[in-house]
Amino acid sequence: MKVLLINGSPHPKGCTWRALLEVEKTLHMEEIETEWLHIGLDAIRGCMGCGMCRKNKLGKCIFGEDAVNVAIAKMESCDGLIVGSPVHYASAAGGITSFLDRMFYSSGGFPYKPGAAVASCRRGGSIAALDQLNKYFTISNMPLVPSAYWNIVFGNTPQEVEQDKEGMMVMRTLGRNMAWMLKSFEAGRQTGLTTPLPEKKVRTNFIRKLESDQKDFAPYFTSYNKVDKRFQEED
Ligand SMILES: Cc1cc2nc3c(=O)[nH]c(=O)nc-3n(C[C@H](O)[C@H](O)[C@H](O)COP(=O)(O)O)c2cc1C
Repeated sequence: MKVLLINGSPHPKGCTWRALLEVEKTLHMEEIETEWLHIGLDAIRGCMGCGMCRKNKLGKCIFGEDAVNVAIAKMESCDGLIVGSPVHYASAAGGITSFLDRMFYSSGGFPYKPGAAVASCRRGGSIAALDQLNKYFTISNMPLVPSAYWNIVFGNTPQEVEQDKEGMMVMRTLGRNMAWMLKSFEAGRQTGLTTPLPEKKVRTNFIRKLESDQKDFAPYFTSYNKVDKRFQEED
């Protein structure tokens, strides 16, 4: 069994890498293989929303100049995914955000393969970044791998990250839990357990009514929260 580790930092051997390394060491102790992918320093195009990937059922992005399609291809032979990002302005870094938008949108995600995110910050914003990254998994039927705290580390250098003893413990626990989930899923498969059948997709959008229609719907209000006095006096 194998886990893909994506380092979404511009620094190939920075803080995010150090956090992921701790996860990797534990995965290896649990006899889980790993594969690395650093998103690189070249520009990563954001999703244009052209829809060509879905319209033509490509399973990958039409733009192939960066590693997005490499990551999608790697996931075919990987059983789990861990994505690391530094915190940039209290969010995941721009590069990895563009990367994941295209990776998940064009492939449709990696259902029933467990996933986890890791965020590395100097001081603050890691919870928001982590929440943002977790969304890619939870919209794609990917079970989230837990740890003993949220998957965050603190530091401005890899050495500082090592000094974050609790962060390191959280990373090791994450690795162990990923291994446990992968082995549990495999044990389930051996007994004939299959993944749930998907329901037919239902997609709804917010319904925007015309202002003229809104009068019937809410006669007390003319617009927004302004009370229509005529109705108020009748009461
Ligand atoms: C553009 C930019 C924005 C940053 N914003 C934050 C931030 O909002 N909060 C924070 O704690 N650290 C912030 N940092 C610091 C990095 O998140 C922190 O040093 C991180 O551990 C670096 O990881 P890396 O070595 O893997 O790139 C920022 C760094 C950069 C370059």
